[in-house]
Amino acid sequence: MRVLVTGSDGYIGSVMVPLLREAGHDVLTLDSCLFGDCWFGPTNELAVDLRVDIRDVDVSMLEGFDAIVHLAAISNDPLGDLDPTLTDEVNHLASIRLARMAKRAGVKRFLFSSSCSLYGAAPTDGYLTESAAFNPVTAYGTSKVLVERELARLADEAFSPTYLRNATAYGVSPKLRLDLVVNDLVGSAYTTGEVLIKSDGTPWRPLVHVQDIARAFQAILEAPREIVHDQAFNVGATRQNFQVREIAETVTRAVPGSRVVYAEGGGPDIRNYRVDFSKLESSLPEAKPVLTLEEGVLELLREYRAHGLTKEAIQGSRYMRLAHIQRRLEDGSLDPSLRPVVGRDQPQMKHGSGAGS
Ligand SMILES: NC(=O)c1ccc[n+]([C@@H]2O[C@H](COP(=O)([O-])OP(=O)(O)OC[C@H]3O[C@@H](n4cnc5c(N)ncnc54)[C@H](O)[C@@H]3O)[C@@H](O)[C@H]2O)c1
Repeated sequence: MRVLVTGSDGYIGSVMVPLLREAGHDVLTLDSCLFGDCWFGPTNELAVDLRVDIRDVDVSMLEGFDAIVHLAAISNDPLGDLDPTLTDEVNHLASIRLARMAKRAGVKRFLFSSSCSLYGAAPTDGYLTESAAFNPVTAYGTSKVLVERELARLADEAFSPTYLRNATAYGVSPKLRLDLVVNDLVGSAYTTGEVLIKSDGTPWRPLVHVQDIARAFQAILEAPREIVHDQAFNVGATRQNFQVREIAETVTRAVPGSRVVYAEGGGPDIRNYRVDFSKLESSLPEAKPVLTLEEGVLELLREYRAHGLTKEAIQGSRYMRLAHIQRRLEDGSLDPSLRPVVGRDQPQMKHGSGAGS
């Protein structure tokens, strides 16, 4: 298929694009490169074909594609709270505008990267299926709810949107993020010997390896239309619902000499939910996640060692989305609308060492 991947330069996109290309798809990439130089590891083999903001896309850019995989977003709760109006503008309004233009351009499939955070503060202890109520507690979560609702209205014979509600991702990516719970806990265990839990450790978090997210998108892209048309899928594995303290214990078992430390005053977290992922597996067996938390933790540890991840690198802004965007706003390379400032933009460059700064 001829596929346009937006947000290709992000944590998930930089894992997914090579996977789709290996599977034989003709993939074009689009990203505004908010994290252009935030590479983890020595080389950057990925280039962005269309260095464009999704708010500035026009219909001519979308002609000739069979599908759009829409990952581009102000992605995660803390970054989404930086400016809720901007989060709505990029994540919600620009996504719907993109989908409308895609439909007009004759694109048949639209895979929307949604999130389990739309379940938010679940009123029940039970496992949430795709038909559970939405209770988003952040601007980011709300934006995912609004896009899903409005995309559904565009669904018809000629246009098939699918909503992939990803669990919280973990694992190595060329665009590593340390604002994700597993990646963060392994990083602090490795560099400081301590696994710091900021809550009381009881909140539930559904997790999924970033490679398994990429495989699920591939399976949905290639699935018969009738299975995925206007359908939501929780993307993850039911056995990978963990309490934060269980995640921490898995990390300390893997990292020699490390121990769990609870931050003072940490209480239960408002975001607390367990998710049922059986629909994905029963509809599309090939989309079933295969990687376990233990495997992901060992892989992270191996790569952190290989790249010499340091405490200073963790505290810097390379791997933390909110800190990186704040730094770029301060140095003027992004304008207040989060568009790169011409002439002050970060180049797409090769890095000798991704882990150092
Ligand atoms: N990582 C997770 O745990 C997770 C979980 C659930 C859902 N998701 C969703 O999956 C998608 C990808 O997440 P990620 O973790 O790779 O995020 P990321 O922040 O690593 O990547 C997002 C990419 O989108 C690009 N982008 C942002 N605004 C843009 C704009 N206006 N125009 C063009 N490009 C823009 C950024 O430059 C970045 O490369 C997002 O929609 C996110 O909400 C992620």
